[in-house]
Amino acid sequence: MSRLNRTDRPYDIVLFGATGFVGALTAEYLAAHAPQGLRWAIAGRDELKLKRLRERLPGGTAVGVLRADVADPASLRELAEHARVVATTVGPYVTYGEDLVAACADTGADYLDLSGEPEFVDLTYVRHDARARETGARLVHAAGFDSIPHDLGAYFTVQQLPEGVPLTVDGFVTADAMFSGGTFATALTQLGRGRQVLAAARDRRRHEPRLVGRRATAPSGAPRFAGEVGSWAVPLPTIDPQIVQRSAKALDRYGPDFRYRHYAAVRHLPVALGGVTAVGALATAAQLPPARRWLSDRLKPGNGPSPEKRAKSWFSVKFVGEGGGRRVFTEVSGGDPGYDETAKMFAEAALSLALDELPPTAGQVTTATALGNALIERLRAAGIVFRVAAIR
Ligand SMILES: NC(=O)c1ccc[n+]([C@@H]2O[C@H](COP(=O)([O-])OP(=O)(O)OC[C@H]3O[C@@H](n4cnc5c(N)ncnc54)[C@H](OP(=O)(O)O)[C@@H]3O)[C@@H](O)[C@H]2O)c1
Repeated sequence: MSRLNRTDRPYDIVLFGATGFVGALTAEYLAAHAPQGLRWAIAGRDELKLKRLRERLPGGTAVGVLRADVADPASLRELAEHARVVATTVGPYVTYGEDLVAACADTGADYLDLSGEPEFVDLTYVRHDARARETGARLVHAAGFDSIPHDLGAYFTVQQLPEGVPLTVDGFVTADAMFSGGTFATALTQLGRGRQVLAAARDRRRHEPRLVGRRATAPSGAPRFAGEVGSWAVPLPTIDPQIVQRSAKALDRYGPDFRYRHYAAVRHLPVALGGVTAVGALATAAQLPPARRWLSDRLKPGNGPSPEKRAKSWFSVKFVGEGGGRRVFTEVSGGDPGYDETAKMFAEAALSLALDELPPTAGQVTTATALGNALIERLRAAGIVFRVAAIR
């Protein structure tokens, strides 16, 4: 049954932060790909900017415009009450995001964001998961390059392996891409909050029910030469392995004992060492307010890589899964990860929440748990590759 005609709220999807860099790309994607009859709106704090954006969207006259500001919680509540799905790009989420999650959890609106910020995701779990379960709201974080290819790629790999046996999956990420001012600001905010990130993770562990009768882990692993993919593998401590682990905890299909390890794959060892050193230097600088200010002046929010640069960008995540005597090699790949493909993944996830018949879930859920194969099929149809390279 189509969910399109459910008219309990004025809009199927409201896109908050539509005037930002990824927000505008997502609005353009929705304008080009939303099915006829989808009721959707763009939202943000600047009505004039929103109207200018709407003017350049094909079929824009049918798109609603809603004003809301993160500094005005009543406007966020109104936004949530007007939407079946609220998709927000207003980050850094740890700074701007919590009141909207609260409004969605409380009013039963589905919530989708691009947060790759573990601290934010942990604190919304502790504060809003229980209420969302009561109202039926699905709270889906990390619905962009962080973490869809990794979460759905691991899920896709698991489905190629036998059921009911211990499984291991390793993910190896390679990408060639640039980032936007908004992403840079968010990364600097996260890197400057090491203590708060650890405290939020501890608090989550205290609140999360223990998994009984099964195991699902995501150890960080050690740097190594990974002959199976012909590259050096450097552990990548992003939010992705945490999200994969949560999917594995939620779904029995991952088996009685599941382990996921997440790596950056690099051809040459000096490049790997250079990358680790650069991130270490950025993390140190982010602790010092003057250095952080200097860095954030280098790349301003609202800006991002040009269409020409994005057209040359790409990503590939290779997975090696093993269990029950089978070894499988899979890959998820696509174009510009941070922006064009993120906008596509984000918009398709919002469409899937609004339109697809999905497993019954509520509370904080991952893309694999809430959207699973429905989203894989949407992304394949939109040009993102999910493939089995070999089975041994
Ligand atoms: N998961 C992923 O893979 C992934 C990929 C890309 C980006 N991201 C994340 O997505 C977020 C957005 O990135 P971006 O490059 O699009 O950033 P951006 O261009 O700076 O956009 C931020 C948006 O937030 C809005 N905003 C800021 N303060 C607001 C307020 N007080 N009330 C309402 N709206 C407000 C801005 O509105 P104005 O236009 O009015 O300023 C703008 O629409 C960042 O957190 C980034 O890290 C994640």
